[in-house]
Amino acid sequence: MYWRFSKENFERALAEDRVYFGVDGDRMPIVKRYLTEVQAGVVPRTWWPANEVGSNMSAKRDHLRKLFPGVAAFATPKPEGLLHRIIHIATKPGDIVLDCFGGSGTTGAVAHKMGRQWVLAEVSPSTVETFTKPRLMKVVNGEDPGGITQEVEWNGGGGFRVLEVGSSLYERAADRLLLADWAKGDMFARAVASQMGFAYELDGPFAGRKGRTRLAVVDGVADDVVVKSIVSYLEEEERVTIVAKSAAPEAAELLRQMSKGSRLLKAPGDLVRRGKVVR
Ligand SMILES: C[S@@+](CC[C@H](N)C(=O)[O-])C[C@H]1O[C@@H](n2cnc3c(N)ncnc32)[C@H](O)[C@@H]1O
Repeated sequence: MYWRFSKENFERALAEDRVYFGVDGDRMPIVKRYLTEVQAGVVPRTWWPANEVGSNMSAKRDHLRKLFPGVAAFATPKPEGLLHRIIHIATKPGDIVLDCFGGSGTTGAVAHKMGRQWVLAEVSPSTVETFTKPRLMKVVNGEDPGGITQEVEWNGGGGFRVLEVGSSLYERAADRLLLADWAKGDMFARAVASQMGFAYELDGPFAGRKGRTRLAVVDGVADDVVVKSIVSYLEEEERVTIVAKSAAPEAAELLRQMSKGSRLLKAPGDLVRRGKVVR
């Protein structure tokens, strides 16, 4: 029909007497592979039955109801055995595992027990409070004896942070990127600082600091008067990143001349370049 692997490989195998045509020599050829050539263990198959990796039902019955007696179990928890297999196949210790649909937190719990870093996103605050957070606390505290705990000899440790994600700073109108309506004054400054990796810190005209670089956020037009005023607050060897909603044509050049290493960015365009956040 067609070469299932290249003709050259087949002919090499034939020359090495590694092609088997069945007892009578008239069957579909099979290429022999020797144990020394294959990895130890089992190659994953497509079909993973519940008796190997568990099910929603076993996750509830054998694990989560015991972990949280008296709490109505999350409707669709994955069994830890299933995530154990996936994470084992796809990652190495220290890798970052992402689950955008956190739910009861199985992915985070298993990744944690397996020595991976993890990020979960969950849209429902009540799911986080009722299921995700308490479960992961138990994992960290070594108070979760179920799931894969024994198999991977998990005893607790590590930690995690829970962050509430704010509204997007951007809105899209047709193919234009705009700032969201709420992005004004302090809220705008705080969002810009956070996006650009500055610690938010109000001090004179500045809204943040990163080493010797200050951040100034201008909710309006940065012209030469604004630029001069901001630069006058810089200490020696400090520079500034100014983010403004709009800028006079000469302002960026003036800033560069007045303060080496300083720069002027226009929001939103300069904050995102080709979908990447500018830092
Ligand atoms: C099937 S559950 C996930 C189950 C989870 N893997 C576990 O083992 O418990 C799907 C979860 O995704 C959440 N979800 C749905 N849409 C979402 C979104 N856009 N962003 C984040 N989470 C979302 C739901 O609230 C629900 O908790």
